Amino acid sequence: MLINEKIKDKIVLALDVEDIEEAKSLVDELFPYVGTFKVGLQLYTKYGSEIIDYISAKNSNFFLDVKLHDIPNTVEKASENVVLKGANFFNVHATGGLKMMQAAYAGAKKAAEKLNKKQPVILAVTMLTSISQEVMNDEFEINEDVSNFAIRLAKLAKKAGLTGVVASSLEAKRIKEACGSDFKVLCPGIRPEWSSKDDQKRLATPKFAIEQGADYLVIGRAVTKAQDCLEAMRKIYDEIGETECLQR
Ligand code: C5P
Repeated sequence: MLINEKIKDKIVLALDVEDIEEAKSLVDELFPYVGTFKVGLQLYTKYGSEIIDYISAKNSNFFLDVKLHDIPNTVEKASENVVLKGANFFNVHATGGLKMMQAAYAGAKKAAEKLNKKQPVILAVTMLTSISQEVMNDEFEINEDVSNFAIRLAKLAKKAGLTGVVASSLEAKRIKEACGSDFKVLCPGIRPEWSSKDDQKRLATPKFAIEQGADYLVIGRAVTKAQDCLEAMRKIYDEIGETECLQR
């Protein structure tokens, strides 16, 4: 299987597994084709630095999916620590507000300078997919369309200097229109036609997501639970390679 750097850069593999040995074997098998490995709270709270060091040793990017949300001072210090730990990507909740996001940027910058590394990718989570329109209206008593609310939060994240947002492929185009093409969009909920849908509802194929402007695709079970991970990855590479944006 040929490595295409442009495609590799877009692939963020979600290491949502229980066991470190399973995570390590996925990293071993897939690192040549994956730009960034995403470690979530499940794995991180159990294994901490062990998994980070393993990923870093392969020269892959490491995305710590911590979704920080606290007062600005705490987020600044935590962001600094996240980057000092080796994360090249991490995320915060946009609902923490402008000052909190600016603090995340400042903390990350301090750490990057200490390490003599470039500024990491910092993404804002606008609205969790578990927050439905009903929750917005009935629990938060906010009478606004949930997508419009997410777009307003994306603009705030841009104002704070963050790299981009985590969003559904179905909203990627609107976010690019509102925030500009340089503002990055990372899309989860990716399922090729041939893979199982699992519990994801607002799905998109890799091709559709890229065509909508996604800069990064979070790919989890479509590859990690496939009978043959490498073959699943190869098919995803082929599909992305066919999109016009990749031909340019
Ligand atoms: O296995 P699957 O491809 O569904 O994994 C998707 C990954 O993206 C998981 O790590 C999940 O936590 C994350 N994610 C998501 N939906 C969001 C934000 C993040 O599925 N809205």
